[in-house]
Amino acid sequence: MKRERQSLNQGWRFQRTVENPDGLVYDYRPDLTIGNNTTILKPWILPSGNEFINEPANRHERPSGNPGGNVTFVQNSFNDSSWEIVNLPHDWAIKGPFYTGENAVVGGGMGRLPVQGIGWYRRSLTISALDKDKNIYLDIDGAMSYAMVWLNGNLVGGWPYGYNSFRLDLTPYVNSGTDNVLAIRLDNPTDFSRWYPGGGIYRNVWLTKVVPVHVAQYGTFISTRDVSAQGATLDLTVQVENTRTTTEEVEVLTEVHILDSATETIGAKAAEFPSSKLTLQSGEKQPLNTSVKIQNPQLWGPLRTQQAPNLYVAITKVFSDGKEIDSYETRFGVRSLTYNSDNGLLVNGEKVRIQGVNQHHDLGAIGSAFNFRAAERQLEILRDMGTNAIRMSHNPPAPELLDLTDQMGFLVLDEIFDCWELNKTSSDFHLIFDDWHEPDLRSFIRRDRNHPSVIAWSFGNEVGEQYTDVAGAALAQKLHDIVHEEDPTRPATASMNYAKPYMPFPVVMDILALNYQGEGIRDAAAYANLSGIKTPPLYPAFHEMFPGKLLFSSETASTFSSRGTFLFPVTNETSAPVTDTSGGNSLLEQVSSYELYSANFGSSPDKVFAAQDNNSYVAGEFVWSGFDYLGEPTPYDPARSSYSGIVDLAGFPKDRYYLYQSRWRPDLKMAHILPHWTWPDRIGLVTPVHVFSAGDEAELFVNGQSQGRIMKAAFTYRFRWDDVVYQPGEVHVITYKNGTEWASDTVQTAGPAAYIQLVADRKTIQADGSDSSYITATVLDKQGVVVPQAENSIVFSIVGPGDIVATDNGDPASLVPFPSKVRKTYSGLALAIVRAVPGMSGAINITATGEGLIDGYIVLETLI
Ligand code: GAL
Repeated sequence: MKRERQSLNQGWRFQRTVENPDGLVYDYRPDLTIGNNTTILKPWILPSGNEFINEPANRHERPSGNPGGNVTFVQNSFNDSSWEIVNLPHDWAIKGPFYTGENAVVGGGMGRLPVQGIGWYRRSLTISALDKDKNIYLDIDGAMSYAMVWLNGNLVGGWPYGYNSFRLDLTPYVNSGTDNVLAIRLDNPTDFSRWYPGGGIYRNVWLTKVVPVHVAQYGTFISTRDVSAQGATLDLTVQVENTRTTTEEVEVLTEVHILDSATETIGAKAAEFPSSKLTLQSGEKQPLNTSVKIQNPQLWGPLRTQQAPNLYVAITKVFSDGKEIDSYETRFGVRSLTYNSDNGLLVNGEKVRIQGVNQHHDLGAIGSAFNFRAAERQLEILRDMGTNAIRMSHNPPAPELLDLTDQMGFLVLDEIFDCWELNKTSSDFHLIFDDWHEPDLRSFIRRDRNHPSVIAWSFGNEVGEQYTDVAGAALAQKLHDIVHEEDPTRPATASMNYAKPYMPFPVVMDILALNYQGEGIRDAAAYANLSGIKTPPLYPAFHEMFPGKLLFSSETASTFSSRGTFLFPVTNETSAPVTDTSGGNSLLEQVSSYELYSANFGSSPDKVFAAQDNNSYVAGEFVWSGFDYLGEPTPYDPARSSYSGIVDLAGFPKDRYYLYQSRWRPDLKMAHILPHWTWPDRIGLVTPVHVFSAGDEAELFVNGQSQGRIMKAAFTYRFRWDDVVYQPGEVHVITYKNGTEWASDTVQTAGPAAYIQLVADRKTIQADGSDSSYITATVLDKQGVVVPQAENSIVFSIVGPGDIVATDNGDPASLVPFPSKVRKTYSGLALAIVRAVPGMSGAINITATGEGLIDGYIVLETLI
């Protein structure tokens, strides 16, 4: 009798209202007036976290009664046929329209999209009579936010924190052999996030059916020690649970197999843990600890090394009277991690520099609705840049994202909170911190601790408690200790943008994760006139105070730019804050792509690199940010998305991409020139040319005329010819390494826009409604040169079994809704995201038309 895990993504009905339609609320909240007719559900929701509260006295007793049971939406008889039909994962806000203007209900910070309000989801659920003796669990990977769940009119429970995964036990409320109705209520306050949170059941939802004696939720933990190429010891804990009213005796056996994650094939048996017998009282959950040695393990190793991300799967079977009653799979990897304060991070004994980026959870034009291919594409683009590490800023990611990082070999800093007791926005997590920090933290770690890609836990980002001396440090210690109770094998930290080496806060941290302080805050010449805290580069002071602790930057840069936009004059500095006279234009809401301009507290990549190279013990960095993300459009609040990405919201690399690539893939023969060379208004004007390349010497030519052969000076990371005078034609660079030619690049002046070219990242997609093709439309002149400032309006159309689910162009200031089939190119490019209609085969034809342009055309194939 196998456990069953069934997707519940299809066939939901959905309704969202801005006003409260039902009089229910989780708890008091600053943005709400609680009237006499309001029912507060918190006492009934709190027990859903009990599994993750260690001290029995702190667990919650469910009060009697069934609040919400009289609301029509939860009743099986309610007719929801007028509600929208949706499939999950679903983000109710991403379609827009965008709110505009200064006093918008949802401003730039949260992405100007309608995330706020109350969403109801309903779906019927047929449970077979054969399942009547089974436990039926609802597993929700993420629902934004304040989820409350009813089955057949009975309140089951809920989970407030929208980023965490949770399980609810439906068993007591199931009518087996017939139809059941599941109703889920979500509620987003207007001011509960510093970025775009999305709204809705935005991750996968599952129904898990098991016999009452089974491996518990997140019921295994496998860690590895004494790892070498010859052998390793695997330590396994299995939690087995008995929800029967009788005492049960079982035998538990776990085998380890090689896993080919690309083909999802379970390979040869590599080891077997000794089997154990357990006697479980009614209602009891018991851990079972065993170990086994594995010979010649295929180690899990990260990107940017000669190692490979090999995986194993442990298959745990529970037997009763010799009969298999449950089987549970755990993917894991065999690898050792060493955190050395002088040599940085070692994986399997090999030093690995952390070449990381921060990623938010949204996937651009499709919003927060998790999509495997969209996530994989982001990681592929980042991998090609040389990235080997991701910080999950600042919340638990979709579980599948960690499957991807395991498979692809990324290192992960897995993070849970952006605030604790002290708020950053009026209705953020601080409102529920006291009740939920323990269940949220424990469930997060139990969910993610088998992933070999996770190298450390972060239990906070730039929290206000950095400022409260010993009180803040005490709270940090408490959270740190919870992390270690759940996982003694990995270090725990919280990112510090304020705490100084002499303060009590960093003492708590196993490793030191600095935001911006390492390279210094507002300490370069161009930042001198700014107000706000000023910090010299603090890597040395932290290293000196904590000589034994590994040190890296969890955030660096916050360099801002708009892809393909260049503003003049160009600063002579290597790093400068964005202002209207330096790198920025608040009317256009754009920042120059010379990649020298940053947030007031930030720095250019060049400045960060120099600070790191001056302090060789620094283990590496996580750049803010890998991709642009929705919301937080600093420095231009009227916009919709960030300027800090190395890659824009549509997935098109900015110029900076090649700066990181030149550093992170020093063996790649690459040279990249900026800016573009189509400046009809700049003839005779100084137009600096910069080049990114791993070469150490370079010569630039404009229309064949040398502009000088120059060496890269120590602690500089780009070639600059700042006095070049613009003439139309051709810019060409040849770079050299150790005196021999390394790489070259050419940029030509474009003529008038002539045609649209369509290129797909995948020409064949699965017809499953989820797999996607990302199609780039480029405006070219008649010679095939990209027209770099083209802003042509493109109309995308589709014939065949597919849909254009969204379009974008990476322009942070664009407030054209994402589903629009009409999209202007921004700096010459636009994007269309296409999915196939589930189950339908055939060719999908996509055409892009634009006034005065020859159409672009592409055909996709679908696979069933
Ligand atoms: C950091 C913060 C990030 C993001 C970034 C903006 O201080 O941790 O979440 O806000 O600044 O550049």
